[in-house]
Amino acid sequence: MKVLVIGGGGREHAMCWKLARSPQVEEVHCAPGNAGIARDATCVKLADGDVPDYARDRGIGLVAIGPEGPLVGGMGNMLRARGFKVFGPQAKAATLEGSKVFAKQFMKRHGIPTADFDVAESFAEAEDAVRHFGDRVVVKADGLAAGKGVIVCSTIDEGVQAASTIMVDRAFGEAGRRVVVEKRLEGYELSLIAVTDGERYKMMIPAQDHKPLLDGDEGPNTGGMGAYCPARNIASPELVERIEREVIVPTLQGMREEERPIRGVLYAGLMIDGDGSLGVLEFNLRFGDPETQPQLTMMSSDLAALMLESDGGNVSNVPVTWHEGVAVTVVAAAEGYPVSPRKGDPITGLDGVEKGDERIVFHAGTSLDDGKVVVSGGRVLGITARGPDLDTARKASYDMIEKIGFKGMQYRRDIGVKGL
Ligand code: AMP
Ligand code: GLY
Repeated sequence: MKVLVIGGGGREHAMCWKLARSPQVEEVHCAPGNAGIARDATCVKLADGDVPDYARDRGIGLVAIGPEGPLVGGMGNMLRARGFKVFGPQAKAATLEGSKVFAKQFMKRHGIPTADFDVAESFAEAEDAVRHFGDRVVVKADGLAAGKGVIVCSTIDEGVQAASTIMVDRAFGEAGRRVVVEKRLEGYELSLIAVTDGERYKMMIPAQDHKPLLDGDEGPNTGGMGAYCPARNIASPELVERIEREVIVPTLQGMREEERPIRGVLYAGLMIDGDGSLGVLEFNLRFGDPETQPQLTMMSSDLAALMLESDGGNVSNVPVTWHEGVAVTVVAAAEGYPVSPRKGDPITGLDGVEKGDERIVFHAGTSLDDGKVVVSGGRVLGITARGPDLDTARKASYDMIEKIGFKGMQYRRDIGVKGL
């Protein structure tokens, strides 16, 4: 089978890398891909509307959509209407990620635990809602905002300012036409990711992301500066089982009842409190980035089979297995990330650092310029190692990253430390 992956970041590199190792995959294509993906796949620049023709001409048997933009935009619908097998939901299901108002109201309808909230359609309504919730409040733009549309506040003034930034200044454009104002939850964050055919599901190995830019969880939030898995310290088998029962199963069922079956991924971002309460912060209908990089490094079974069954099949039929040990991904980001990443500098030291399927440099924001690999995005590389335990895998990742360099490269020194 030939597979086409849509996207060009670290998540999509890990998907291409893993699919290229599938016994049933003969060719991997990726649009647009990046300099590293080009080692595992044929990269091609395609406008969304040109994807079906390209897939038909190349005899593509499965299209796997990586990012949320094309999913919410209906690429799954367009491809299924043309007869393709797709990994990734229809737009109606992707609304669970694409509209925070929809997601919150859905959770309320189906009794899925989440923070108390109000929906505001105007700045005046948002201001009232902030005053109602008080100091500990979160203001969220309704629509997609590349992970930036959520403002966590500690005072009423900050809450009002956040509502103004989103609704008056329109810092995130039309995504801020409506906002969710909700109670700020306390605790620690955990993300659990399921691959589903809409009814049955298989859990991915639990991973811990590191969202803040700097060591010790300081600095601004990013898309994620590193991840490791399995994260046994935060995701005990009992807790995972409880989240399946209280969140994953009722969400899949509720979406089926509302005729929005999820074919592909259900990613639940949660806040877990010490007193045993849990609440859903957000849903995504795609794999996580960087979580996918260590997760697919750990997967010892066939990803293509799982993806195929997610679209009209039964994922229970696919064995999903994991290597022993632990995988760690440390993200190397560009100078100025996450605000204004510096681009164009050459990356050195990439040759010879990788080893088998245990030491891999996944590329996120890279491109080829005159045969040289250069920085072209905020998160540049996902330096990934698998080892018998967390300590060994961490050391291997940091050993690799020390050999790699580009002007202004920044990375966290403490990825995985919480799990030691
Ligand atoms: P979201 O995109 O909704 O996951 O929000 C992004 C980040 O904002 C989350 O990863 C949390 O760190 C934080 N966040 C969102 N909602 C809340 C909440 N109700 N309480 C505390 N933190 C939150
Ligand atoms: N790493 C967080 C996300 O993929 O949403």
